[in-house]
Amino acid sequence: MKQRIIAGNWKMNTRRSEAMLLIESIRHGVDARQIPSSIDVVICPPFLWLENAIEACMGNPALHRSSRSTVRCGAQDCHHEASGAYTGDVSAQMLADIGCTDVIVGHSERRLYHGETNALIARKILAAHAAGLRPIVCVGESAHEREHGATRAVITQQLDELVTGAGSAALNSCIVAYEPLWAIGTGVAASPEQAQDVHALIREQLTAVGAASTPLLYGGSVTAQNAPSLFACPDIDGALIGGASLSADSFLTIIDAAVSAWAE
Ligand code: PGA
Repeated sequence: MKQRIIAGNWKMNTRRSEAMLLIESIRHGVDARQIPSSIDVVICPPFLWLENAIEACMGNPALHRSSRSTVRCGAQDCHHEASGAYTGDVSAQMLADIGCTDVIVGHSERRLYHGETNALIARKILAAHAAGLRPIVCVGESAHEREHGATRAVITQQLDELVTGAGSAALNSCIVAYEPLWAIGTGVAASPEQAQDVHALIREQLTAVGAASTPLLYGGSVTAQNAPSLFACPDIDGALIGGASLSADSFLTIIDAAVSAWAE
């Protein structure tokens, strides 16, 4: 069974009260739908709201729920070491301890604002796996790189360095998200043809290292409107959604598009 994933990356958004409302609305919306187990719904709120999200989505018998929602909760980053003198950082094991299941690593905003390299991201993949988390690993080219015809070279190098650092087996237990930088938060998504073209390249590269079934997500200005045409592409297995995941309505509409595209 091919696994599909709809993941919401809330970034550094939502005040506490907004986050609680959004979590509840998404959980109710998901509970009310028949979502096949082949489609994972993941929300990645800020660290501080994660435990609330996990209690609301996964059920904490001590608190309230007996039935389990199918919403998984992920973090937006983790440290590459298991523990130590890293002020302000959060380890993968700490995330696992509170019931987190997934973690985004190597998002372009982490690469840009925190200087994260492929070598470091490879270590985060290993740290996530050691803690039992599923890494959502981001790759993507800048507008400048695309304009200069370097998209394929950039993606190939990112994947090569990740495989060198983490090992090909590790890539088999990841999700890879293709997020062109020029599409993130701009309202200009890659066209289905542009996205499929890069996804086919990523699939080819991962197949060559024995990771043919790694799910590939597209991210960058995904909306309820463009999701159906993106999900029709053969190598797109889901989406990593920023802005549109901050509204329960649009996030749930994207989930509906996934169910229509992939319900078996
Ligand atoms: P966006 O963000 O959907 O707001 O473009 C996607 C992401 O950065 O993961």
